[in-house]
Amino acid sequence: MAQTPEKTFYIETFGCQMNVHDSEKVIGTLLAQGYRQVQTQQEAGLILYNTCSIRDKAEQKVFHRLADFKKMAQQGKKFGVLGCVAQQEGEKIFDRAPHVSIVCGSASYRNLPEMLMQIEAGKQRVTGLDDRETDECFETEFTSRSNPHRGYITIIEGCDKFCAFCVVPYTRGKERSRTSASVLEEARRMADAGYTEIQLLGQNVNSYCDPSENKRFAELLAAVGEVRGIRRVRFTTSHPRDFGRDIVEAIDAVPALCDQVHLPVQSGSSRVLSLMQRLYAREQYLERIAWIKAARRPISISTDIIVGFPGENEEDFEQTLSLLDEVGYDSVFSFKYSPRPNTPALKFIDHIPDQEKARRLAVLQEKQKQIQSRNNQKHVGEVLEVMVEGHNPARGQWIGRTSQNKVLNFTAVDGQALLSGSYAQVRVTQAFPNSLVGELASGSAEVGINHFLNSQSRQLAF
Ligand code: SAH
Ligand code: SF4
Ligand code: F3S
Repeated sequence: MAQTPEKTFYIETFGCQMNVHDSEKVIGTLLAQGYRQVQTQQEAGLILYNTCSIRDKAEQKVFHRLADFKKMAQQGKKFGVLGCVAQQEGEKIFDRAPHVSIVCGSASYRNLPEMLMQIEAGKQRVTGLDDRETDECFETEFTSRSNPHRGYITIIEGCDKFCAFCVVPYTRGKERSRTSASVLEEARRMADAGYTEIQLLGQNVNSYCDPSENKRFAELLAAVGEVRGIRRVRFTTSHPRDFGRDIVEAIDAVPALCDQVHLPVQSGSSRVLSLMQRLYAREQYLERIAWIKAARRPISISTDIIVGFPGENEEDFEQTLSLLDEVGYDSVFSFKYSPRPNTPALKFIDHIPDQEKARRLAVLQEKQKQIQSRNNQKHVGEVLEVMVEGHNPARGQWIGRTSQNKVLNFTAVDGQALLSGSYAQVRVTQAFPNSLVGELASGSAEVGINHFLNSQSRQLAF
């Protein structure tokens, strides 16, 4: 009897944490369908790209990649385009890349088994582009998390904000919150499987609203922080308009909630914020920063900034620079404005030359580097708890992450071995703009029982 050929897949992920976690859902779904994940495109029968469309560069990367692989299609390999470019371009992808077989947006991953069966049965092309309006449609039956200690949970999908520059409302559809009961159940299952850190995900977690119990985000956050075994909870992303004081109160009250808030501002100029349709002015943003700074815990603050939005003049840009000083961010993700399909800003005249956008970006990044240097310097002498993330043998250092989400590289005495996922107390001895350096505070390495579990069995557990 002829043996059925082995089904193998390779997946590459572009874009944000939501996409990274979506890929974990796709991987879990494919493994449950009898596919085996491989690490190179050469070995794979099915090649998947989970794509991002947030900036033009991200989108172009995918099309270049697809063009490069025409030859592989002749070898009988199948291609699938998933994620935000899939949702945005839909069937047009087949015109640009005729060797693609699957085009599927994030809300349709739970239909992948059915779609794969059709492809296996010889169908040339399948699409999954609907379902973006349904409640709770973004969960799949299986998830294969890549890290055995720290894992994501999606709590809300889509976005109703329609900022003038952003594709997300068009690629991920309208806001849908999951019930807090299902979020908490997933958190408990993860804790049982040995996870100690959870990151709650959504394009706008602050507008989370439990569809059955009317629970708000701060309540859900606190409840996840109280799940037994969970030591760290982070969340991303917060929209300033919906960022309530209750979130800061929850962080103050629940020890497991990390000392970290990511609050994207986009611009320091109220005029530009209004053009961007961000629904808040500089003053309101600063009011929220004041709440965070008034917390009893030392909360680190990070942000996203776009430079060169149509209409941004030198004075507006100066206001963004002054905001950096005023807030004193611990980290900033900054981008040159990139015009995106379907968005309102596409109609604005993008008069700022790329060279000028690049200059503003460089000025901003240099300024921020100095701010981070100063901020990090304040940690020297402190003893901070880190989750151990790995080892850098070349430097003889362990890599840890603090509650404030800062990387803290440290040495242990006499070559003491630490386990990834364990927690340790580390004394900070040096500070750089993007990391801290320290040494293990004596006798404080602590190993959780979880690390003895087989990570492979955990991968398949959900
Ligand atoms: N939901 C988040 C943002 C998600 S997108 C929020 O509201 O803040 C992540 C970041 O990408 C944004 O914060 C923004 O800084 C950047 N971004 C989004 N669209 C962009 C565009 N058209 N050009 C450049 N950067 C963009
Ligand atoms: Fe995009 Fe604005 Fe929604 Fe964030 S809040 S995802 S920037 S539309
Ligand atoms: Fe990109 Fe989609 Fe995330 S556009 S940033 S992958 S929501």
